[in-house]
Amino acid sequence: MRNTPPLVLATQHGPLRLLTLNRADKLNAFTPEMLASLAAGIDEAVADAATRVIAITGSGAKAFAAGNDIERLASLDGVAAYRDMMAGQRALLRLHDCAKPTVAMVNGYALGGGFELALACDFIVASTTASFAFPEITLNTMPGWGGTQLAVAKMGLACAKRFVLSGRRFTAQECDAFGFVHQLAAPDQLFDAVQSIAATLASYDPFALEMAKRALNRASELPLSAGLDFEAAQYAVNFASDGARAGLRQFIERQRARRTAQSDSEPATR
Ligand code: COA
Repeated sequence: MRNTPPLVLATQHGPLRLLTLNRADKLNAFTPEMLASLAAGIDEAVADAATRVIAITGSGAKAFAAGNDIERLASLDGVAAYRDMMAGQRALLRLHDCAKPTVAMVNGYALGGGFELALACDFIVASTTASFAFPEITLNTMPGWGGTQLAVAKMGLACAKRFVLSGRRFTAQECDAFGFVHQLAAPDQLFDAVQSIAATLASYDPFALEMAKRALNRASELPLSAGLDFEAAQYAVNFASDGARAGLRQFIERQRARRTAQSDSEPATR
């Protein structure tokens, strides 16, 4: 019996867990099985103490992910399509709210569900050859894995309407100008760029990152006063951790050491 290749590959690079969608012949279009493998891969990475940052990319040179599998989608009735969208939303919401920082390493087309996946990550690092679109409107459908909500949260209503209501494909450079792409890199430097972001994130206290991310994620959901209360609560929880006090003390010690070094090197005045 032939072994079927895994739909999502997981590799470890120091503190970085890289999850690679592995269906290049179909431009990494999503099946329910691939979505479930991705969700399992994310859960495993969150549970692994050595993993501090999670990145997601697509296999092959062409695509990050070309969205939901259209052939399968076309065979669903209304109720099955609703359930499919709910499964996609649940998976992407888990990713959006996952306790560790996440990076979409967008190596090519990020279309439909692929674009939604990228928007559910904390950072988007895009190859200069990547492009982004919500083509659903050209299929007489609409985004259903959280795209309308995530797009507004990440790029504002006006920009989100350009994507969702036009179906047009935008280049990585255009998306960089829109502000939701955090960094552009040449294709052969894309992974280095992600590793460099991961190294910086891994140098910070994971609990402080987790608390700050939770507060940021609630910002678009809560009215300002409730958001501020939530932020204060997250601040207090983080402040009770050893990491927060150690971080503050280390700063004070560094300043003290710098002042001592300065006064030692100053010439005596008399
Ligand atoms: N679902 C299922 N299969 C898909 C797919 C999708 N979303 N996107 C691409 N594929 C498949 C193609 O059918 C083709 O399969 P085949 O070789 O067995 O015929 C293979 O991936 C390669 O795609 P192809 O269209 O030949 O590549 P291309 O370079 O000519 O075009 C795209 C690339 C991305 C522009 C084009 O594939 C496309 O428009 N895909 C649909 C994107 C979309 O609308 N996504 C939202 C879905 S809700």
